[in-house]
Amino acid sequence: MQKQDKPAHGMWASRWVFILAATGSAVGLGNIWRFPYITGEYGGGAFVLLYLACIAVMGVPIMIAEVMLGRRGGLSPIHSMKKLATDNKVTRRWAVIGYLGALSGFLILSFYSTVASWALYYAWEALQGVFQGISAADSQAHYQAMQANPWLMLGMHTLFMVLTMGVVAMGVKKGLERAVEILMPLLFVLLIVLIGYAATTSGFAQGVDFLFAFDFSKLSGQAVLDALGQAFFTLSLGMGAIMAYGAYMPRELRDKKSGQTRSVSIVSSVVIIAALDTLVALGAGLAIFPLLFTGGLEPAQGPGMMFVTLPLAFGQMPGGLLFGTLFFVLVVCAAWTSSISLGEPMVAWLVERGMRRWLASLLVGLAAWLLGVGSVLSFNVWKDYTFLGGSFFDNIELLSTSIMLPLGGLLIAIFAGWIMKETQVRKELGMKSFVLYMVWRAMVRIVAPLGVLAILIGFLTGALD
Ligand code: TRP
Repeated sequence: MQKQDKPAHGMWASRWVFILAATGSAVGLGNIWRFPYITGEYGGGAFVLLYLACIAVMGVPIMIAEVMLGRRGGLSPIHSMKKLATDNKVTRRWAVIGYLGALSGFLILSFYSTVASWALYYAWEALQGVFQGISAADSQAHYQAMQANPWLMLGMHTLFMVLTMGVVAMGVKKGLERAVEILMPLLFVLLIVLIGYAATTSGFAQGVDFLFAFDFSKLSGQAVLDALGQAFFTLSLGMGAIMAYGAYMPRELRDKKSGQTRSVSIVSSVVIIAALDTLVALGAGLAIFPLLFTGGLEPAQGPGMMFVTLPLAFGQMPGGLLFGTLFFVLVVCAAWTSSISLGEPMVAWLVERGMRRWLASLLVGLAAWLLGVGSVLSFNVWKDYTFLGGSFFDNIELLSTSIMLPLGGLLIAIFAGWIMKETQVRKELGMKSFVLYMVWRAMVRIVAPLGVLAILIGFLTGALD
């Protein structure tokens, strides 16, 4: 296809760069902040197993579909979907997948930056030794004091947004590619170091046990829904981030040694990405829970686990200053490579419409920043204003992750499974095994849409209670 020959934004240099970039998008606050605390709330092992099942039956099939649509379209999600709709002789209204995705990317970016900027601030503070010997009450008070300070939070939010959109402004090759090539190896090294550190603590065995011992009595219907939702969020599905990255994925690459061209497989790449994402989530659990148990702390701490309980644990341990700092640097790396994938689809769309990349990045960044100000202020100045029982931050988060992402994923699965011509799908996937292809097809047509519908309906009925 010509679009692949003359890419508007550039192509990943190799299959590994695509895998790194997509893993960078997937591995984020979802893995290091959210996964451990939900696992903690559901009591460990059994929830982990449920989550793994959701990744396999819903996450991987939808991710394959999303990358496939992206590579087939070769453009930003909005334009890719328009093109695919035309190619398949269906209404161009299917571009709603792209528009909805751009909007959810924008909403997620705004609140994501708020939480990421806490980690940025904590990395700085951990380095100063602020958490050394801190008491439980002080750790709690410290977290609340940070949230109560609008100027501090605004400053950090601004810094994180500049970091994010700065990378996007530099483009696919000089920005995104370079960022993931530096940050992702760093992330893996830091995680391994931190797990090694956790392994030296006395609570390690208890931490491992907590993550991997299955006690099904603790599970409920809500656990299933949360596992589904988490699988979805952690793989960055449903908003076009993965579709945009798929558009920069070459179909064929020349092998440097033999000089032969080889086709670049979507399916095996996605399996690797999902596996790496899962390993990082489990690794984060392995790095965190032993520290909590060693410090005699509770794992069921909710969202405050990373910002209240963990600093407390680091503050008590030998080497806590160094490892605590490294931990928050790890979180920042993870969040940074995710947030660039939230901004890229919209910027790519504006660039295709003729705007300069720097200008597009500036505008998208400004708009997401402005919306993020609402989230920042909802922790302090606007604390008392709530809507449907939640703050501005809560509502933006729920609307995007519990409604818009599942809806986007549902439409993606339906388009890939039911609308797109099968010959095109098979060609783009290029799967050698017919049996595996049929398994994927059954998943993407039936199993995955049902899973996503369950999230949506579960959320809506829960919200009405
Ligand atoms: N996957 C990221 C995380 O776990 C968040 C994220 C980045 C995301 N891009 C996304 C979620 C796109 C949904 C859609 O933190």
